[in-house]
Amino acid sequence: MGDNRVPRDPQLPTHWFNILHDRPQYVTSAVSRSRLAGEAKVAGQGALLQQPLALARQSVNTADRFIPIPEEILDLYALYRPTPLRRAARLEERLGANARIYYKYEGANLTGSHKLNTALAQAYYYSRADVKHLVTGTAAGQWGTALAYACQVINLRCTVFMVRSTLRQKPIRGDMMRLFGAVVHESPSDLTEVGRQVLKDNPEATGTQAVANGEALELVVDDSDARFAVGSGENSVLLHQTVIGQEAISQLAELGEFPDCVIASMGAGSNFGGIALPFLGAADESGRSLRLVAVESAACPKLTRGRYMYDLSDALGTSPVTKVYSLGSTYVPPPVYAGGLRHHSAGPLASAMHADGTLEPMDVDQLTSFRAGLLFCESEGILPAPEAAHAVAGMLDIVSRHPRQESPIVVLVNISGHGLLDLGAYSRFAAGQIEPVHADETSLSQSLSALEAFNQSITESVQAT
Ligand SMILES: Cc1ncc(COP(=O)(O)O)c(C=O)c1O
Repeated sequence: MGDNRVPRDPQLPTHWFNILHDRPQYVTSAVSRSRLAGEAKVAGQGALLQQPLALARQSVNTADRFIPIPEEILDLYALYRPTPLRRAARLEERLGANARIYYKYEGANLTGSHKLNTALAQAYYYSRADVKHLVTGTAAGQWGTALAYACQVINLRCTVFMVRSTLRQKPIRGDMMRLFGAVVHESPSDLTEVGRQVLKDNPEATGTQAVANGEALELVVDDSDARFAVGSGENSVLLHQTVIGQEAISQLAELGEFPDCVIASMGAGSNFGGIALPFLGAADESGRSLRLVAVESAACPKLTRGRYMYDLSDALGTSPVTKVYSLGSTYVPPPVYAGGLRHHSAGPLASAMHADGTLEPMDVDQLTSFRAGLLFCESEGILPAPEAAHAVAGMLDIVSRHPRQESPIVVLVNISGHGLLDLGAYSRFAAGQIEPVHADETSLSQSLSALEAFNQSITESVQAT
């Protein structure tokens, strides 16, 4: 890779920040299904767990506060990092806000979102472990695109199962992944048992992240050269994303600032963790107070309405069972445009942060989010991805509630991706065709009941072992 090096900016972090060192209580262990009485070990679970040692260790490492980023990954990060941090001065003026609003912009990288930070890292570790093929599920397509590019640049095959509703909303996402050499399947598909079962129950099924992941896992089981790459939620993925927050800390420090509040959208927690965790470490160190706000979709309100219970992350039922805030893996959220916020659960780390009150959850409906996204674009010239528009809406809410008589609140919002492939959705918003979609109550109550029953059975099984 020597000849391809681009000069590294001094602000490019050389290490990932590991919050598990400061807060070891956040290492929430996965309960392997094979440990549960009466359940055979399922092949897919083995496939998911067969991560390269370096990656697996990163999820449980409490010894090192900083973990060095391998040189090869740094060379790739240098192609697009550090990403810009800007003050949204025109937006402040337009709002007449008693606030200084900063944003970190992850959308200008090669594939358009923060997802590349972990895609490159995972592709690197898997290729070093001699894996030839990465398979994944993607909802909005940002993760799939990032992995497709990472696999191309690191020379791995890539297969992506993309949630049907989002692939149909923006087929161009599929085109982009294919340009980077990936094989893309609409999920549910008839290629897998999981997909066929879903289609049998409902041929018009819109798909979910859990089904897409289940299909990806099933494919991996039959291919010994393949592994499942995970787009969010796992501790190691959040770790890779901490380049975002570390850069933001030094970029803000140059301006003499430290935020009162950091805001990001919540899919399973990677862009939130990426920006929030380094600030949490810095605030813990200095004793500063800091609000960390995670904004979820009102259509998939796992933090505000979910249960903190053991759950699966895929519909095949072979992923390890982790304790998370969840709506249950059978919940089917309405097909909102922020496909990346449709995951039924937050990851274990974000969930633990919610359980101990470190994370402040907020839910936003999609009409409010598009309004906020367009306002941001009109003022700042950047069109946020629908997921990031939720974070903007959360930020606007926080700023609007800040009392006039107090000194200005300093907020930092993560614009996790651009919305240029979501122009169709923004146009529909501009034409008055977007509804404020909320949770599907029928699916929600069925799924929560199933989740509670599952937890009951787990408790009984674990007690019996
Ligand atoms: C642009 C963007 N932002 C946010 C998210 C939410 O995911 P996470 O919580 O992993 O950051 C996604 C997920 O696809 C995304 O594409």
